[in-house]
Amino acid sequence: MSTYWLAEVGGVLHADGIPLPEVARRFGTPCFLYSAGRILTNVERFRNAFFGLPFELHYAVKANPLGAILRLLAREGLGAEVVSGGELRRALWAGFPAGRILFTGVGKTPQEHELALRCGIKAVVVESLGELHMLEDVAHELGTAAPVALRLNPALSPETHPHLATGREGSKFGLDLAATRAALEMIARAGDLHLVGLHLHLGSQIFQVEPYLAAWDFLLKVHSVAEQYGFAPEFLDLGGGFGISSVGERIFPLEELAAALTKKVPAEVTLVLEPGRALVGDAGLLLAQVLCTKEVHGRRYAVVDAGMNVLLRPALYGAHHRIVPVVPRSGPHEPMDVVGPVCENADVVARDCPLPPLASGDLIAILDAGAYGSSMASQYNSRPRPAEVLIHEGETHLIRESEPVEDLWRGEVVPPFLV
Ligand code: LLP
Repeated sequence: MSTYWLAEVGGVLHADGIPLPEVARRFGTPCFLYSAGRILTNVERFRNAFFGLPFELHYAVKANPLGAILRLLAREGLGAEVVSGGELRRALWAGFPAGRILFTGVGKTPQEHELALRCGIKAVVVESLGELHMLEDVAHELGTAAPVALRLNPALSPETHPHLATGREGSKFGLDLAATRAALEMIARAGDLHLVGLHLHLGSQIFQVEPYLAAWDFLLKVHSVAEQYGFAPEFLDLGGGFGISSVGERIFPLEELAAALTKKVPAEVTLVLEPGRALVGDAGLLLAQVLCTKEVHGRRYAVVDAGMNVLLRPALYGAHHRIVPVVPRSGPHEPMDVVGPVCENADVVARDCPLPPLASGDLIAILDAGAYGSSMASQYNSRPRPAEVLIHEGETHLIRESEPVEDLWRGEVVPPFLV
């Protein structure tokens, strides 16, 4: 693996060799900054780990759906995993061939099924019997066969935040074993449905190999049930969820998983993985500026210009993102709360974060913000979404402009009685 993309040079934080104050000057703050090099290194890590296995890598578009990032990954030959008609359209726009796109998601409309079938999708990943009926109707109307994969709920609970465990009992996702059998019967009877794969997704921010191995055994078990119905699903999809955390801390042991799976992938099936965060999470940071510092009832705060409207993860999951001052001042590290400007108590970027002295105008980098940062950003408190910049081979490229303020009311209609 190549070296990490962030380094302090002469007391200034650099990203792929570019000083971050220069990025702030050119593009303003807050600003998402990504490294194409780091994303490609992350792709290489998967490819090296699973080299020799029949293996396909599909990028989970929801982690970061920016066109430039999708294009980079499509050009690398990855497939995509999408969860809505919008993500499907984005993926096609960015150059993913439909034959390399999987359409997952717990609720799809007939129009989304139609779009998927018309474009020639690799598989619609179906999560309920009702959806299977809907897909069959659409396929029938179009006079085409629908490639189907079944999303299973294996009732496994990996260690992660409860919001992020999606393959456990009590979660809305997938089919249980009884529904899987009913689905197989239905596909066997239907003329327009063609079973091509089995799928599951355990959840997100997982660091243990064991739940994946248990999930793989579950997929193999259902594969042999499918064989009893005369099917031979071509791919088994273990989903995404591979955890990342701040540099030097925990990282999902991909190589260990690959080694453990080596003897367990039957010759006739392809193993599919669909990581999002593990490809783009540590390849992005959020550059923000300190607006002011203050003390309230003895607690120290730095108020920055990037809040929960830009990075929701700390407020929603209590997620930890490392904060690094771009030009650290000398002085003792003392705990302080880094908070955003949004009018909510939950608008905290990091609590009790040991930091050197900060002053108004200082820049900070909020790390590991490449996944589920931009994609979950909102205009809450009427704050336009920030600019996004990609570094490629030592050059910065604006890949999304900061929203003009007029975008805050774009699409709104003033009713005649108020004109
Ligand atoms: N496949 C499916 C079917 C998924 O639902 C997801 C993520 C992935 C793959 C990719 O998971 P990853 O490798 O990125 O963990 N907003 C949360 C994460 C939600 C993940 C939703 N599904 C967060 O900020 O942590």
